Amino acid sequence: MGLPQGLAVFPKAPKLLMALRPIVKYPEPVLNTRAREVSSIDSEVHRLVADMIETMHAAPGVGLAANQVGVLLRIAVVDLSVGKDPSALVVLINPRVLSSDGQQVDEEGCLSIPGITEMVPRPLRTEVEALNLKGRPIRIRGEGLMARALLHEIDHLDGVLFLDRLSPLKRRLLRKKIQKLIRDGDWAGVSA
Ligand code: NI
Repeated sequence: MGLPQGLAVFPKAPKLLMALRPIVKYPEPVLNTRAREVSSIDSEVHRLVADMIETMHAAPGVGLAANQVGVLLRIAVVDLSVGKDPSALVVLINPRVLSSDGQQVDEEGCLSIPGITEMVPRPLRTEVEALNLKGRPIRIRGEGLMARALLHEIDHLDGVLFLDRLSPLKRRLLRKKIQKLIRDGDWAGVSA
């Protein structure tokens, strides 16, 4: 998930051996495709997660799903501190929403839909179950922005974008706006 406006963060200084991966932009089909379960948390998964964390922090963003780096595995990372607080980093492997309740409508963006934010309705609270990098089951409770970030990233793993959570009218308008950006060559990462 992109940074909500008002949450200004300075990108971290580049690290040696940083492995940034290019972020896939809408409307690449990989973003509309359901990712598959991770069956083995091997060295490749560890490498992917490390790269996803670096890529999220560098963007900067507060969440990233594997689809967004072109990998169809059910892996997401969330860090509301954008690298400032190591204890805020959450790695979710095969996440599943256990329950959600309440309602919030707030500004939301996506690193795959750069420069565009919209008011998106979401549950206020959610509880998610997942595996961590050690393969141990974890439960994460999120409220407000954390619930929004968790649900946004799990949506990605189901091939769902925040655009899909908007009214048909708003969705059409935003799609037109994006098509125009692509035509004009102003859509980062897409050669049109
Ligand atoms: Ni996103």
